[in-house]
Amino acid sequence: MRKKLVAGNWKMHGSHSANAELLSGILAARPFACDVAVCVPFPYLSEAAVALAGSDVRWGAQDCSQHDKGAFTGEVSASMLAEFGCRYVIVGHSERRAMHGETDAVVAEKAKAVLARGLTPIVCVGETLGQREQGTAQDTVKRQLSAVIHALGHCVGEMVVAYEPVWAIGTGVVATPEQAQEMHALIRAQLHAATPHAEAMKLLYGGSMKPENAASLLAQQDIDGGLIGGAALKHADFVAICRAT
Ligand code: G3P
Repeated sequence: MRKKLVAGNWKMHGSHSANAELLSGILAARPFACDVAVCVPFPYLSEAAVALAGSDVRWGAQDCSQHDKGAFTGEVSASMLAEFGCRYVIVGHSERRAMHGETDAVVAEKAKAVLARGLTPIVCVGETLGQREQGTAQDTVKRQLSAVIHALGHCVGEMVVAYEPVWAIGTGVVATPEQAQEMHALIRAQLHAATPHAEAMKLLYGGSMKPENAASLLAQQDIDGGLIGGAALKHADFVAICRAT
């Protein structure tokens, strides 16, 4: 039985006052039956660390460099994130792939860098609407995952995978539980071929998950939690999703 994980991806949202309210709202709602985490913008890592220290709510980042140090202006390394107590780092989010040209190879290197520092990468995969309509959704996800599987080698079992169909992100259009489960089952089958730990790995769904649709998605056999965008910015919604596990 896999323990579910609900992780908030705050994206580029937040302020000192909004963060304080959100984090205290989450803390006040404990205990949760699932693992809970928030992935915050880099400048807010230390305040998340201070607010959440001593609780079972984890924090993390939304990206990192594939390099450990050097002349990479504007980049942040996994070693730095480890110093801030991060447990998770999202890599390969579709917004990074689309807006920053991150290739499968770069995403795979980032996942490797995160694991090398003892943190857990949340590796995002997912097809665009065009790819789904053309019938290439499964091939796309398989290709994205395959790059990471090859790069991680025997450490594959240590990552978390998030299936985020691009057409469902921030659109209010959510994958049906059946559509999501179908892709999660394929992802797990691909992982089974790569690691003996596939059954224990957490596969999250992301894309317009909200309190009203969370329970039916989370009830699916291979959906082990959620990566939540918009609904992670209001503590009542985020807590409701955590409770839906
Ligand atoms: O990483 C989470 C995400 O991309 C989903 O965003 O706003 O559709 O929940 P949203």
